[in-house]
Amino acid sequence: MGDEEHITRRDLLRRGAIGGLALGAVGAVGGALLAACGSSSTGATATTWTSPSTTAPPDTGGARWWLEGNYGPVKVETTATELAVTGSLPPGLTGLYVRNGSNPLQGVSPHWFLGDGMVHGVRLEAGTASWYRNRWVRTGLYDHGGGLGATGAPGGTATLSNVSVVGHGGATLSLGEVGIPYALDTADLSTVGPMAAYGGTNGNMTAHPKTDPATGNLHSFGYGFSEPFLEYRVHDASGALLSNQPVALPRSVMMHDFAITEHDVVFMDFPVVFDLAGATRMVTDPSSEAVPYRWTPSVGARLGVMPLGGPTSAIRWVEIEPCYVYHTINAVRQGGSVVLDVCRLDSTFAPATLPSASTRHRWRLDTSGTHLRFADEVVDVPPADLPTIDARSRGTTWRHAWLGELASHPGAVSFTGCQHIDMATGRLDRWQPGAGRTSGEWLFVPGGPGEGEGWVMAFVHDAATDRSSLVVLDALQVSAGPVAEVHLPVRVPYGFHAAFVTD
Ligand SMILES: [Fe+2]
Repeated sequence: MGDEEHITRRDLLRRGAIGGLALGAVGAVGGALLAACGSSSTGATATTWTSPSTTAPPDTGGARWWLEGNYGPVKVETTATELAVTGSLPPGLTGLYVRNGSNPLQGVSPHWFLGDGMVHGVRLEAGTASWYRNRWVRTGLYDHGGGLGATGAPGGTATLSNVSVVGHGGATLSLGEVGIPYALDTADLSTVGPMAAYGGTNGNMTAHPKTDPATGNLHSFGYGFSEPFLEYRVHDASGALLSNQPVALPRSVMMHDFAITEHDVVFMDFPVVFDLAGATRMVTDPSSEAVPYRWTPSVGARLGVMPLGGPTSAIRWVEIEPCYVYHTINAVRQGGSVVLDVCRLDSTFAPATLPSASTRHRWRLDTSGTHLRFADEVVDVPPADLPTIDARSRGTTWRHAWLGELASHPGAVSFTGCQHIDMATGRLDRWQPGAGRTSGEWLFVPGGPGEGEGWVMAFVHDAATDRSSLVVLDALQVSAGPVAEVHLPVRVPYGFHAAFVTD
């Protein structure tokens, strides 16, 4: 199991460095960062984008890039206190920023997505950053030594729990692609235990449940490898299960996300098909790099629309061109149509293990007739993914989105800076973290009454120092650069999704 290290600011002073810089120099360097790197543009006409700041993945001769560089796992659990801050943390920004990611306990995994979950948290309090901690999520797999091969079929407590963190019903949940959520203690990021009430009958819950801001209800699904291949669930604001209904699907597919409006649920049945042979090979021969899904466009792709809350028997489907969407941005009902914004990929789990880039699409599903009708519109902005919105506008009329900008490399991707898109004006505002610095998901945290008033934050890794910081931007002025940057004494590997848990 992992070692633990406790680092304080005094230790850093003794070691003489934060991020390779003498502590006394941090303010000046950070100040320069605050003044630099802003950029702003509109994306109305451009069709080709290059990123000014990328860190190429390590050259491993085509081997397991996800185990090296800042994709690679960290080996220890660290506690660092009295963190140095450049700029000014907003005093009202009090709570825990916590981000999940894949960090194989044994140091190896067959795919970037298939390592044991590790959460990284920074506690912000009244203008200070009181601590950083990283902790493996103590799942059933962790307890058996880590990795998907540790037990039988994945599901239930056999979860990597490595994708996201969601606060609901007073609990802070660590979520995986499959399996049940694990509750975390926000005081120290320790694992409280499994939350079976979210797992329905197939023992799986998506990492992307949606909270309906009108009711506080949590809408979710869980896909499985045997029938029922899909279940749709609603939990009330306290976490009590209101309903769990099967959704008829012809096969087991990897369904990473979905969308809700005030009136609708939208499911995405895309051709990433469960592959039993690949799953078996992955477990019996981890060096094979086999994965449990296979891109199978011959089975087609569909979008399904049904009433919010169900019944699932009322779902209607429309066929679309095979593609994959890891992440929806938001959806809204406009008269007889559902308008769904997504980050679209041509494929995934195809022979190349990662997609090259995501493009923004606006999909319109006309539900007014006997049959659904589908229209596809490309939104011309730089490739980006890991979208976040102001969750107060989930499923209803909305205006603002923030995404991590993508730079592609052969067989891999890097997230560079932050994009803010104002859907009302079409204005694209961008911030790049500078040469050799890369980010990931930018999480929106409300800081005022209006949609978009608040901050976005992400871990930014500096290749030169191999350390990370938590960067906080004004959500409506991202090109102005950081309002604050919390310097960490360690690196935070690239990962997936975060939450900000308030007290
Ligand atoms: Fe995701």
